[in-house]
Amino acid sequence: MILVKLGGSVITDKEQYRTFDQANVKRLAKEIVRSKMPVMIVHGAGSFGHVLAKKYHLKDGYRNQNQMKGLTQVSLDVRDLNLRIMDALQSAGLNCISIPPSACCLMDDGKLVDFDLEVVHRYLDLGIVPVTFGDVVLDLKKGFGICSGDQLMAWLADEFDPERIIFCTDVDGIFTADPHLNDDANMIEQVDRSVLARLPRSERCADVTGSIYGKIESILDLAKGREAMVVNGRVRGRLERALKGEAVKGSRVIGDG
Ligand code: IPE
Repeated sequence: MILVKLGGSVITDKEQYRTFDQANVKRLAKEIVRSKMPVMIVHGAGSFGHVLAKKYHLKDGYRNQNQMKGLTQVSLDVRDLNLRIMDALQSAGLNCISIPPSACCLMDDGKLVDFDLEVVHRYLDLGIVPVTFGDVVLDLKKGFGICSGDQLMAWLADEFDPERIIFCTDVDGIFTADPHLNDDANMIEQVDRSVLARLPRSERCADVTGSIYGKIESILDLAKGREAMVVNGRVRGRLERALKGEAVKGSRVIGDG
C-alpha cells in the first residue's frame, strides 16, 4: 500500500481563503486511479484551514469563547474541501470514504495520541480507500488543536507500514531555500537529518502547522527506516509515475533508521 498526502498547496490556493483548485484535484484523482496502485490518502487544508486557524489562534488551544466561531468554521471549511476531493476521487472511479479526524482522533499538547483505526482497517478490507485530512481535533491538555495531515501520515505509516510514502507539494521537491522567493534555491535530491540544518525556517504564508523546515522534520520522523518522496503535484504525470515506482523528479527523504 502507498500512503499519499495531497498537500494544501496542490489542492487550494494557499494564499486566498477557501480557493479550491478543482482542475488540479481532478487531474491528481485521475492519476491516482490510472496508477492502479493500492493507496491510502491524506490531504491538507490549504486555505480552507490555515487562514482562519491562524486568525483564531486555534493551534494554541482554548483561550476564550470567541475562538469557537473560528473552530467550528474551520471544521466546516475543511469538510467542504474534503467533500470536493471525495467527489473528484469518486468521479475518477475510486471507491473511497471520508474519515474526519475531529470525530475519531485525540491530541495531547498538540501531539496526536489517539486515532482509532479499526474502521480504517475494515474499509480497506472492503476494498474502499480511506481518505483523511488535516482538521480541528480535541486536545486533552489544550482543549482543542490543529491536527496536520502530516501527523496523520505518521500515524498511518506506523500502523500500515506502507511500501512507499509520497508527499505532493507545489514545488519539485525539498529546496535549500524557498524556490518561490529565491532563484538561487537548489533542490536536494536526497534528504536525511544531516541536511536539515541547511534549510530555511521562514514561513511563506498563513501556515499554522509549520514551515517547510517543520514539515521535513516530520517527514524524517515518520519515514523512520522507510523512504518518503516529495514530488511536485502540479506537474502532470509526476504523482502517477511516483505511485508506479518509476524514477521521477523529486526529493527522497531517508528517515532515521
Ligand atoms: C492543516 O493540515 C489543518 C488545518 C489547518 C485545519 P496540514 O498542515 O496538513 O495542511 P497543509 O497541507 O499544510 O495545507
